Amino acid sequence: RRLYSTAAHPARFKLPPTIKQVLSANGSESSTTSVTGWIKSIRKQKNITFAVVSDGTTPEGLQAVVSKERGTSPEMLKRLTNGTAVRLTGNLIQSPGRGQEWELVIQEGDKNAIEILGDCDIDTYPIQKKSLSIEYLRDNAYLRARTGQIAAMLRLRDSISKNLSRHFESQGFTYTHTPIITASDCEGAGEAFRISPIQPTTPSLSKTDASSDANTPIEFFSRPAYLTVSHQLHLESFTTALSRVYTLSPCFRAERSMTGRHLAEFWMLEAEWNLATRCDSIEEICAFVEGLIRTSVDHDSQDVKALWAEKGMEVEEFKMFRAAFDNAQPWRRLTYTDAVEALSTAYVNGHPFEFKPVWGESLSSEHERWLAEVYVGGPVFVTDYPIKLKPFYMRVNEDGKTVACFDLIVPHVGELVGGSVREERWDVLSKRMAEHGLLPHPDQNEDATTDSTYQWYLDLRKYGGAPHAGFGLGFERLVSWVGGIDNVRECIGMPRWTGRMIM
Ligand code: 4AD
Repeated sequence: RRLYSTAAHPARFKLPPTIKQVLSANGSESSTTSVTGWIKSIRKQKNITFAVVSDGTTPEGLQAVVSKERGTSPEMLKRLTNGTAVRLTGNLIQSPGRGQEWELVIQEGDKNAIEILGDCDIDTYPIQKKSLSIEYLRDNAYLRARTGQIAAMLRLRDSISKNLSRHFESQGFTYTHTPIITASDCEGAGEAFRISPIQPTTPSLSKTDASSDANTPIEFFSRPAYLTVSHQLHLESFTTALSRVYTLSPCFRAERSMTGRHLAEFWMLEAEWNLATRCDSIEEICAFVEGLIRTSVDHDSQDVKALWAEKGMEVEEFKMFRAAFDNAQPWRRLTYTDAVEALSTAYVNGHPFEFKPVWGESLSSEHERWLAEVYVGGPVFVTDYPIKLKPFYMRVNEDGKTVACFDLIVPHVGELVGGSVREERWDVLSKRMAEHGLLPHPDQNEDATTDSTYQWYLDLRKYGGAPHAGFGLGFERLVSWVGGIDNVRECIGMPRWTGRMIM
């Protein structure tokens, strides 16, 4: 059966409407409508059957009503079970029942009104309509997108990423694609996954390596290669040509962390741009990041509501999340030094932190959560961390002890974004890179030529590198905050973390 005409110009080819498109066209009553999807639930009564069909484009799906006199055979009805893929044709009418605005009344006399596109083995179907535990769904990750929660989360990812793109576009950024395979460990935290081919199929490459012998592993790229932990350094290269750049890409970290905030494969939104304001000002980045998040999150969307409904909208966590967007006051900025002072006062006054807050040491996650949830009661930019806690590329402040950076900490999630002004001064950067062991000769001068993995990064400063800044936002953590989802493993379709990769 011809579904759509191909007579029109190929550029105008259109797929038939999804359920979301059917419903948002404000369905003119009684027009013939076809929808395709999977049966989410079905109620068979003596003379009438109600089936909710979902194609994943809306939280609710669409209720279809089939009455016996419409000529549906008992065999056909039997095949209609949860999980069955169907195409239904009927008349869209305003539903007389409660719980839905529209329903599809299966068309009379059309023997194709119900088409089964794929039967479902109901006896073994893993997504039965009963409450399924998180762990069970992780084990059945190949089907878990059929549940309301995971489908809503995937739609939320989609809507946030589209909104982010719009915001970047409005601010003159170019969306760029940076490599996944890289020679460097940007964060220097030793968490990169090293990669190599399954089989050494390129023995000729090993000959270029003087040290290789039969026992030396062959490097496919003639040097060690890693999965990227961050796209920042490559974005910084693009920013010297395209001025304002961003990417939303996978990052990989071999963190043996079992928290609800860490994945081995996660998506990071990263941006770099040439600063408009003073080069040691981090306020420009904080303001940009805040504007970006505020405009990209539709905290009233159906999916956000559906996700929070799981917890109940009355929880304190939801109120704090809403207030962050409803309140027009800028989110708080707090220096690291002031943050440590506030934490120390609370500690001295008897707050039972497991770790004593000490200037010069990392804030633990309990410290971060206290700052956001108790001290500030909302998102907080903690700025100007001690130099020794942060990577080599952050710009050193006038005091020589801190760097021009920030972490955005949000209630119930913790660190959501990390960013900084980048060190643009060749001499300061070269010294810091040498201290971090990233350059072969610590005493080299500007003209020295070396074969370092990071030499190009330093050289960017020699060739018209302007003061610039950037940040990285953990996309799953944003989804976790916006959807009130406890664990980032439920904020990505097919999660990977230490010890677990099901599919
Ligand atoms: O603070 P991080 O490590 O910063 C960077 O990688 C910078 N190079 C980014 C940049 O400036 N372009 O990571 C940035 C964010 C964190 O704030 C966190 O939200 C997220 O990435 N993140 C993770 N998310 C999930 N699982 C992990 N293992 C994560 N590690 C970091």
